[in-house]
Amino acid sequence: MKFFIDTANLAQIKEANELGILDGVTTNPSLMAKEGIKGEQNIINHYKAICELVDGDISAEVLSTDFASMVEEGKKLAAIHPNIVVKVPMIKDGVKAIKWFTDNGIKTNCTLVFSAGQAILAAKAGAKYVSPFIGRIDDSGWEGTDLIAQIATIYAVQSFKTEILAASIRNVNHIIKCAELGADVCTSPLDSILGLLKHPLTDIGLAKFLEDAKKM
Ligand code: E4P
Repeated sequence: MKFFIDTANLAQIKEANELGILDGVTTNPSLMAKEGIKGEQNIINHYKAICELVDGDISAEVLSTDFASMVEEGKKLAAIHPNIVVKVPMIKDGVKAIKWFTDNGIKTNCTLVFSAGQAILAAKAGAKYVSPFIGRIDDSGWEGTDLIAQIATIYAVQSFKTEILAASIRNVNHIIKCAELGADVCTSPLDSILGLLKHPLTDIGLAKFLEDAKKM
């Protein structure tokens, strides 16, 4: 399973990348706004800065919702760097745009996916990634990881090439469950990635080893 970090914060991206286990980055308009990135040129510069930090797929989301504008916007985003993946919402014009980008050699990440039916459409349109939002499904009282399992089964049975990019990760258990269920990618906040390191017995064991090392 590939590890992406889900943030537009350059310091956090750098910290995760320095661990040596980072395969890419996902952003969205909310994450960009959180970093105070405003205006077309600043947005482009920020994506460039992320691409310079991480050698892997970097998702940059279109802000328009009609086919023609999404195509124009996506072309501009894709021109920033070869690693840019155009992130497109799962709406009718979005599906059309994903098909257009696929036919024109531009990689896409179909976002805001909450059902297996939507994941089938994303795969049919040729999306490189499909992003089921498992934390938001949990928030609404359903089991988000069930959707990962369902999509993984469908994609395997149908031999769809689209990669399952588990998104809206809230905790360490989400990451572990996604790995178990066969997600191709998990995009997580830095806290959840670093959370994987933690176990109290590791801390207790290390303290004892260091104490005993003084007697060596
Ligand atoms: C990433 O591609 C998604 O936009 C992101 O994971 C959504 O996460 P959230 O539900 O925590 O906003």
